[in-house]
Amino acid sequence: MVVLVSGTGSLLQNILDHQDDSYRVVKVVADKECQGIERAAAAGIPTEVVALAEDREEWNHRLVTAVGSPDAVVSAGFMRILGAAFLERFEGRTINTHPALLPAFPGAHAVRDALAYGVKVTGSTVHFVDAGVDTGRIIAQRPVMVERGDDEASLHERIKVVERKLIVEVLRAARVDGDALSIDL
Ligand code: GAR
Repeated sequence: MVVLVSGTGSLLQNILDHQDDSYRVVKVVADKECQGIERAAAAGIPTEVVALAEDREEWNHRLVTAVGSPDAVVSAGFMRILGAAFLERFEGRTINTHPALLPAFPGAHAVRDALAYGVKVTGSTVHFVDAGVDTGRIIAQRPVMVERGDDEASLHERIKVVERKLIVEVLRAARVDGDALSIDL
């Protein structure tokens, strides 16, 4: 599979550290230079940066080319919306990990939004990527309690601890079924 990242890459690191016969990472692609790319390079995994362009359609086409022909694509902290050209090629075998219990708090500020709403339980969701923003079919979820005194950073860090385990669990359960992924958890 190919992993898409935009930032720290701590989820990617856990994915790399737990590779076994059930999955292998063949490439890591990012929209900018980031720690995730450095982590991949340090692990000897091929990397490519496809810098975000004004023309989103063209950028999506370049992203498709960079990703190549894997069985699956995992968006692990990739902070860009995947467009039509990308989904035409990879829908059904692209999954995303999101730091909230979808369908609550989609988007780029899920942890902040959940705190602002005052929820007492939030968590982690792994889902298929479709044309909406975090709207694809849910594969797996785990709850995380909000604690008194939590701020965005402390809550996000506890969610990430759960996310790192959950994404590996999902990847280990994933099977290639034609052009799609079948994941039975
Ligand atoms: C994770 O919490 C992931 O769910 C989130 O970015 C973080 C990446 O952490 N993704 C989104 O919010 C996508 N909307 P990392 O860079 O340390 O792996």
